[in-house]
Parts: sequence; structure tokens; C-alpha cells
Amino acid sequence: MDKKQKQEEIVNMFNDIASTYDLANRVLSMGIDIKWRKRACQKAYDILGLKDIEQITDVACGTGDLLLFWREFANKNSINVKNYVGVDPSVGMLEVAKKKVDFADFLEGKAQELPIKDESTEIISISYGIRNVVDRVEALYEFYRALKPGGIVVILEFTKQNRTSFIDKIVDFGMKNILPRVGGLISKNYAAYKYLPDSIEGFLTTKMLEDELKSVGFNMCHTQSFTMGISTLLIAQKPK
Ligand SMILES: C[S@@+](CC[C@H](N)C(=O)[O-])C[C@H]1O[C@@H](n2cnc3c(N)ncnc32)[C@H](O)[C@@H]1O
Repeated sequence: MDKKQKQEEIVNMFNDIASTYDLANRVLSMGIDIKWRKRACQKAYDILGLKDIEQITDVACGTGDLLLFWREFANKNSINVKNYVGVDPSVGMLEVAKKKVDFADFLEGKAQELPIKDESTEIISISYGIRNVVDRVEALYEFYRALKPGGIVVILEFTKQNRTSFIDKIVDFGMKNILPRVGGLISKNYAAYKYLPDSIEGFLTTKMLEDELKSVGFNMCHTQSFTMGISTLLIAQKPK
């Protein structure tokens, strides 16, 4: 299968699970992802110096969850954000997002071909999405192009871990055996939730992702792992 077909297959899978995505997400993460998302938003605003912002672009926005936290934390920090934009290639996910998030503009598009002007956004975020981008390095160059100088890319992702401790083995077991069954039950699509642990296994380690960001020209400013290394936050800055 070539890269284009693989990408299409991934997007079709998200179209298929769009209507049950939020429910499955909350059940499977037991709500812990909310904490990860909140930490990411606050840290990003701190790094930018709590200044007013022209645009935040959430790529692979899915059903729009992260945009809700971008706005909540902008309000908490009295930051004025002019435009919130969500980008995703899955029409099904965007339909759910549009009903849920009424303050953002949503655009159909891929991370590798962002429908965003050069140097037009201070923040590009991508939560649990970069793993699904087949031409990842191309996408990182796109993020660099669309960011204003000094702008930041904020990545939340399940990076590949070297799991060796007993607790790690339990987490691994849950991800590979329980998660696909529960996700499959909620979405009626077992394959989509089997894809999750498989795609993590085939993904980069945190260090490899940091190196890729640096190779594109970003400076790393923050890396933090959450909840026994299940989720990782990476924030990198385009030079000023
Ligand atoms: C696991 S969901 C994450 C959604 C959302 N960001 C969240 O945190 O819940 C992954 C999303 O990536 C999107 N996606 C898949 N391939 C993509 C690509 N090449 N560029 C941008 N988004 C992509 C899917 O359509 C899906 O909405």
C-alpha cells in the first residue's frame, strides 16, 4: 500500500468512528486526558509570555476538544485570542466539532498541506494526531512555514516507550488487550481501536520526535511526560 492509500485509510477510519469518538475517548482515558490537555495549554501560554494572540491553529483537531481548552485557559489568563482555527481531513470528525465548538473556524485539510497562510499563527497544536500523519516530516515543515517567528508547535502524543517495569507491563497489557475491546464495543469498530496500540508501537520515541523537530529548524523548549509516560507533551519554538 502506498503512502497516499495508507493516509486515506486512516482518515476513513476516523470518519467511521467520529460519532462515538468523544464517548470512547472519555471512557478509555477515564478523563485523565483532560489534565494532559490543560497542562499543555497553560504551559504554551506561559512560554509565549501571556500576550494577546492573533491565531491558534489546532491541526488534526478531530472533534475540537483541544480548542475548548485553548479558550478556557486564554480566558483564565486574560489573553485575547482573535482567531481559533481547527484543521482536519476527516469530514465526520469536523461535523462533530462544528456542533460542539461555536467560536472556531474549521477547515478540511491535512497537516502535510495546511490551508493556512505563511507566518500567520502563533500556536500550532496537534493532540494525538501526529502519529496519524503519514508524511510527518513534511507536516513539521508545514508547521514551520505557517508559524510566525517565535511561534510554537505544541504536540501531545503517545510516543513509543521502552517499557520494562512491572507497572509498565500492566499499562502495556491494558493498551493492547483491554483498550481495543472497550473501544471496539463503543464504536462497533474493533480495528480502529486495535490501530491505536499498533500505531504507538510503530511510532517514534520522544527523543526521536525531538530530533525531528530540531532537524526542521525548531528549538525545543519543553518536554514533559504524564501518567507513567503514557502521554507526552513537546513544545518547540520557531526562532524569532
Ligand atoms: C486520535 S484523533 C485526535 C483528535 C483530537 N486532536 C483529540 O485530541 O481528540 C486523530 C485525528 O487526526 C486526524 N488525521 C488523520 N490524518 C491526518 C493528517 N494527515 N493531517 C491532519 N490530521 C489527520 C484524524 O482525522 C483524527 O481526527
